[in-house]
Amino acid sequence: MSRTHSPDTAASPTASVDPDGLSPLPNGLGWTVSSRALAVRLLSDQRMGVLEPQPVMAHLRTTLPDEVHPLVDDLTSFAERVMLQTGHDRHAVLRKAFGGFFDADAVGALAPLIRADAEHILRPFAAAGGGEFMTSVAFPYAVRAGARLIGLTDEDYRRLHKLSQQVALVAYAARLDDSAEAVRAGHTSLARVREIIAAARAVAPPASVLGAWTAGRIDLPDEDIEANAVMLVQASLETVAGMLGNTAVRILGTPGALADQERRESLLDDALRAEPPLKTLERVVREPFDIDGHEFRRGQVVSVRVAEANRLDDQEVAGRALFSFGWGAYRCLGARLARRQAMELFQTLHHIAPDAALADEKTERVRHIRFDMPRRLPVVCSPSRADGRLLTRVLTEAIEEQDIDRPLTSLEHEIAFVVLQENGITVPEELRGPTTIREWVTWAVSARG
Ligand code: HEM
Repeated sequence: MSRTHSPDTAASPTASVDPDGLSPLPNGLGWTVSSRALAVRLLSDQRMGVLEPQPVMAHLRTTLPDEVHPLVDDLTSFAERVMLQTGHDRHAVLRKAFGGFFDADAVGALAPLIRADAEHILRPFAAAGGGEFMTSVAFPYAVRAGARLIGLTDEDYRRLHKLSQQVALVAYAARLDDSAEAVRAGHTSLARVREIIAAARAVAPPASVLGAWTAGRIDLPDEDIEANAVMLVQASLETVAGMLGNTAVRILGTPGALADQERRESLLDDALRAEPPLKTLERVVREPFDIDGHEFRRGQVVSVRVAEANRLDDQEVAGRALFSFGWGAYRCLGARLARRQAMELFQTLHHIAPDAALADEKTERVRHIRFDMPRRLPVVCSPSRADGRLLTRVLTEAIEEQDIDRPLTSLEHEIAFVVLQENGITVPEELRGPTTIREWVTWAVSARG
C-alpha cells in the first residue's frame, strides 16, 4: 500500500480549470490545484494531511471473511509505518531517523561510488556507439544507486520494487470481484519482501540503510525500519530514471551543453521544472475550511499539478522554488542525492562520450497517470576507442592479479572474456591468442582501437 509513487491514486485532470488555478474533481471528490500560490498555501496547511492507509484498509476489512482479517491487519500495519503515509507527529520521528542517510555528508560520501557506477554503466554504452538511454542507462543507474544506498544487490532491489508494487495494489482490492484473493496475493508478496530484506540485512555494507539497521544505528522499531527501507525502493526508481531521461533530452538536444557544467545544471533544473517525474502531489482535507468561497470538505482529495505549480510566469510566489520534490514537511528526502546522481552521470557521459547526441528529433514519452518521462530515448555517439589503462585496471581487479604477465588459467580466461564483453568489447568465441592480462589488453586495444 505504499502509494508514494504508485500509478493509481492521481485524479485525472479535469477539463475546466478555474481562473484561480482550482478546479473541482467529479462527484465532489475534491480539487485539482494548478496555481503556485495555492500549492504553497495548501501544502503548508496543517488542516491537510497525506493519504493514510487506515480508512481504505478498514473499509476493505469489513468486506472480507474473518479468516482474511489477520492478513489485512498485517498489511495495514506495514503500510501505516511508511513515512509518506503517516500523520504529522509520527512522520517527524520517522523522517528524523532516516535523515542522516540524505544529508550533505552522506551524499558526499556516496558520490565517488555512484560516479564509479556511472562509469561502469556508460562504458559499454559508449563503446557500442550509444543505444536506448532509458533501458541501458537511466534505469540501471537508478537501480544501482538506490540499491547501494539501501544495501541491496541490484537483483534484490528490482525484485523488491515489483513485490512492493503488488503489496500496494491491496489498497484497491475492495474494487475487485475476488478481493480476498487479492489480499492473500498481496500478503504473500509482503512475506517475500520480508524474506528478501532479512537475507539482505545479513550481508549489507555498514554504511547502507540495512547495514546501519543491523548495527543498531537507526533509532526506530524494526517494523518501522523495514517498511521505510522498502519505501525507499519505491521512491528511488521511476523518479530518478524519469529525471535522467528528461534531462538527457535537454542536455543532449542542446549543442555544447554536455561539455558545460553550468549548462548541465541549469538544464537539469529546467527539466525538473517543466517535466516533473512525479506529475501530482496528493493530500486529503483533515479539517474543513474555505478558500475564496470554495469549500474544502473533510475527506476530499487535493491533487496539486506539479508542472503548473512550477511555472514562474504568473505569480511571484516562493522565489524560484520547485515543487517537483514536493513542498513542506513531506518534501523529498532524496532530492539532494537525486540531483547529485544526475550531475555525476552527465559529467561521466561527457568524459566517456563527449559527442553523445539524441538520435531522433522527436521523443516518445510514457503515457502514465503519475510519471512523466521518455519511453524510448535513442542516443548515438562515436564508438569509443578501447582504453588500455582502464581495461588493465578492470581485468586486474576482476582476476585479482597484479602481475599482468602471468599466464592465466582457463577460468581466468573466462573471466577476462566476460569482463571485456561488459566493457563493450566483443570477443570472438574462437579467440585463442592472449595468455596474460597484458596480451588481452593489447588485443582489445588493437581490435577496437
Ligand atoms: C528525481 C528524483 C525524485 C523525485 C522527482 C522525487 C519526488 C518526490 C516527491 C514529489 C515527494 C513528496 C511527495 C508528496 O509530498 O506527496 C517525495 C518524497 C520522498 N522521496 Fe523523493 N523523489 C526523487 C528521488 C528520491 C530518492 C532517490 C529517494 C531516496 C533514495 C527519495 C526518497 C523520498 C522519501 C523518503 C520521501 C518521503 C519524505 C517524507 O515523507 O518526509 N526520493 N519524493
